[in-house]
Amino acid sequence: MFNVFINNLLQTIHRKLRLSPMQKVLRELKKRNVRLHDLNALEVFGGSGDFHTKDYAFQVSTLDMWEIEPKYERALKRNLPMAEVKITDSFREIKNTIRKYGLIVVDNPMSNYGDYCEHFDLFPDIFRIAMDSAILILNVIPESNDIALKKYPYLFNKVQLARRKSFYSTNHPEKVLFDEIVEVYLNLSKSNGFNLEWYFFQKRSIVYYLVLKITSVKNKFLKEGIEKTPKSGIFTKAKKIDPYT
Ligand SMILES: C[S@@+](CC[C@H](N)C(=O)[O-])C[C@H]1O[C@@H](n2cnc3c(N)ncnc32)[C@H](O)[C@@H]1O
Repeated sequence: MFNVFINNLLQTIHRKLRLSPMQKVLRELKKRNVRLHDLNALEVFGGSGDFHTKDYAFQVSTLDMWEIEPKYERALKRNLPMAEVKITDSFREIKNTIRKYGLIVVDNPMSNYGDYCEHFDLFPDIFRIAMDSAILILNVIPESNDIALKKYPYLFNKVQLARRKSFYSTNHPEKVLFDEIVEVYLNLSKSNGFNLEWYFFQKRSIVYYLVLKITSVKNKFLKEGIEKTPKSGIFTKAKKIDPYT
C-alpha cells in the first residue's frame, strides 16, 4: 500500500515537472513536426488512464480508449472526460472496428495473459486501423533484470519466452537487441504495405516505448500516379537513432 502511494506520488511529481517518459516522447514527436492536435488517437489498453494517457489526452484531436475490465470504466471517464471509452476485448475490437487512427498507443501488459502475449497478437491487424500516415507507440522489453524478475516473478516465463522467440525470430528471447527489435517491426510494416519512416526508443523501466512513424506505400504510389505497387525496392531504410538511455 505504502509502495503504491510512493509510486503514485513520484508519478505525479514527474508529470508536474514534465519529465515522465511519455512527456519526453511528446517532446520528441513535436521536434519531428508531428502535429498532435491533428491526430485521432487510440489507447489500446486503457487501464485507468493514470499511467500515461493523461500526458497526451488533452493534446490530441480525439481519443478512443479500449479496456477489457469494466471496473476501470468509472476511473477512465473521470480521468479522461474527453475520451470515448469502450469496454471491450482489444484483440476482437481491432479486427472489427471501422475507425482508423493517426496515433495508436499500445500500453500492453508485460507478459502473457490468457492466450495473448505482450502486443504480439495485435499484429498484423494494427495496420488495418492505421491511417495512411500514423504513429505507433509500443511497449517493448529488450531484456529483464534481477529487480524486475523479483518484483514480477511471472515475467519471462516459459510461455512468454517461447512467444518472444517466435515473434522476434531469435534464439535468445531473454535479450533482444534494439536493432533486432526494430528489424521485426520494419519487416511487419513492409509486408503490410507500410513504409517505416523513422523510429526512436524512450526508456520507461525495463520497458521501452518504441515509437514508429509509418506511411502507407500504396497511398504514396497512388498519389504519384503509379497504379501497381512494385514488388521490391520501394522501402526506404529507416533512419537509425540511438536508443535513449
Ligand atoms: C499496462 S495497463 C494499461 C495502463 C494505461 N494505459 C494507463 O495509462 O493507465 C494494461 C491494461 O490492459 C488491460 N487488458 C488486458 N487484456 C486486455 C484485452 N484483451 N483487451 C483490452 N484490455 C486488456 C488490463 O486490464 C490493463 O488495464
